[in-house]
Amino acid sequence: MKIGIVGGTGDIGQGLAHRLSHNHEIFIGSRDKEKACIVSECTVKTLYENGIEAKCKGATNQEAVDFGDVIVLSINYRHLKSTLDSLTGFENKIVITPINPISKSDCFYYDPPKEGSAALSLKELLPESTRIVSAFNNIAANRWKQLDTELDYSVAVCSDDAEAKNIVMGLVNEVSNLNAVDAGPLQMSSIVESITPLILNIAKYNEMKDVGVRFF
Ligand SMILES: NC(=O)c1ccc[n+]([C@@H]2O[C@H](COP(=O)([O-])OP(=O)(O)OC[C@H]3O[C@@H](n4cnc5c(N)ncnc54)[C@H](OP(=O)(O)O)[C@@H]3O)[C@@H](O)[C@H]2O)c1
Repeated sequence: MKIGIVGGTGDIGQGLAHRLSHNHEIFIGSRDKEKACIVSECTVKTLYENGIEAKCKGATNQEAVDFGDVIVLSINYRHLKSTLDSLTGFENKIVITPINPISKSDCFYYDPPKEGSAALSLKELLPESTRIVSAFNNIAANRWKQLDTELDYSVAVCSDDAEAKNIVMGLVNEVSNLNAVDAGPLQMSSIVESITPLILNIAKYNEMKDVGVRFF
């Protein structure tokens, strides 16, 4: 599969590239192609040192969108609209959103836009034919890059497009010990996104690391 990661130089983007680039062709996108090439070279080197051949390249965000059959929007919610306003070519593509709109006061809290969730706001920002899927919302980024660590979590996946959801669930299940679960239509993405501040608060108040969820 060809996967383009918008904001791929960040924590989640790099983590996904580490775990997916041996099975799939990855374009790590950035506003700054040089930065993306450095991140890509580091990813390839790290994987090579672990005996894994990576298919990974640095790119602009637009090149990542043009390349991918699947696009991951690995950027903060507050940069979503301005980033999407600068990009074209999402028609008929699968777009994965791991985006959690979160704010912080004494603790972390879910701070969704008026549409109800980051995933639902994408319906307003992307062409109608874009196949939006929410996934990877509830796993801490640092675990992704620790290649010797099993990712023993469930990944709740939401979409209104059954075929796109199945493709993304297949992608999830290829990674480590991740377990994709169908969490229903995109309308349910607000519940999945809101699990992340819960996780962050549990980690903070209980001095725990890498808190996650597994559904049995
Ligand atoms: N971090 C986690 O543990 C975690 C877990 C689950 C879900 N998520 C979600 O995943 C998404 C990405 O999180 P992250 O931690 O990977 O984010 P991040 O590292 O803070 O940022 C990702 C990328 O966004 C780009 N960026 C920064 N400022 C920007 C701007 N003003 N306009 C456009 N792009 C900008 C940067 O890429 P360039 O400078 O190269 O363009 C950066 O590498 C978030 O929505 C978050 O809610 C995160």
